[in-house]
Amino acid sequence: MNPNYYIEFEDVYKSFGDKAVLRGVSFGIERGQTLAVLGRSGTGKSVVLSHIIGLLKPDSGRVFVAGEEVSALSEAALMKVRRKVSLIFQSGALFDSMTIGENIAFPLYERHLHQRTRPDDETLEAKVREILAMLELGEVAALLPAELATGGKRRVAIARALAAEPEALLYDEPTTMVDPLAARVICKLIRKLQSQFGMTSVVVTHDIAFCARRVADQVAFLNEGKVVFFGPMNEIYQVTDPLVQKFVQYDAVSFNTTMPKS
Ligand SMILES: Nc1ncnc2c1ncn2[C@@H]1O[C@H](COP(=O)(O)OP(=O)(O)O)[C@@H](O)[C@H]1O
Ligand SMILES: [Mg+2]
Repeated sequence: MNPNYYIEFEDVYKSFGDKAVLRGVSFGIERGQTLAVLGRSGTGKSVVLSHIIGLLKPDSGRVFVAGEEVSALSEAALMKVRRKVSLIFQSGALFDSMTIGENIAFPLYERHLHQRTRPDDETLEAKVREILAMLELGEVAALLPAELATGGKRRVAIARALAAEPEALLYDEPTTMVDPLAARVICKLIRKLQSQFGMTSVVVTHDIAFCARRVADQVAFLNEGKVVFFGPMNEIYQVTDPLVQKFVQYDAVSFNTTMPKS
């Protein structure tokens, strides 16, 4: 275990049946940093995120979060880890029948329930307003999730995760299936949470141009169950691995043809 890391994978192997998905994965991320996990579809990026909050356990190897070996914790102990580290699913997983305000307030109610204290409506409302303002979501508290576009729903999912005051956020494909402008807003938000609150983040994406390039300090590039590159984001352009090169080149093409320079 490397004490500098907030989240660390140490030689993790994971198979489903006879399909080996992770074959000796090691990487780490320091507190307050953003790591992008890159790779093609089906290489195990979401599987990596599930290991961080203990939804999956390695066949061998170890996963550490905030100094604890999550891969060895009981369900009860994992609940504590999940209050520190929040996974934002690709689907957003909002409660459809609750308003956006109620969705965001949900983790706050949950915390009161846990601490056996009574929530005070005004404090809760103020907190929800504060989070909405921070996310530049505006006057949407009374709307239902269905009334927002995908990009808006993603931001509400981030807002709900933030309400739990986590130390780290895990984003699964935050910019997939949203338009470039919405993607940009989401990436800026990820960056802002890092710079203003020192949030530690893991961003799973196959989008270098719109996302990783803007938010990541470090990158772990997964291919066929192994980390083929782990290092600073700006060094990815010099990597000689042919798949990484293709990925970067292909992405550069789409970047140059679709994004205004900034
Ligand atoms: N719970 C599971 N049970 C069986 N197979 C799984 C499970 N989760 C993921 N897989 C398989 O692991 C591989 C990697 O999946 P995933 O991590 O979702 O890829 P991606 O990099 O696209 O996020 C896929 O072949 C997927 O079918
Ligand atoms: Mg995935």
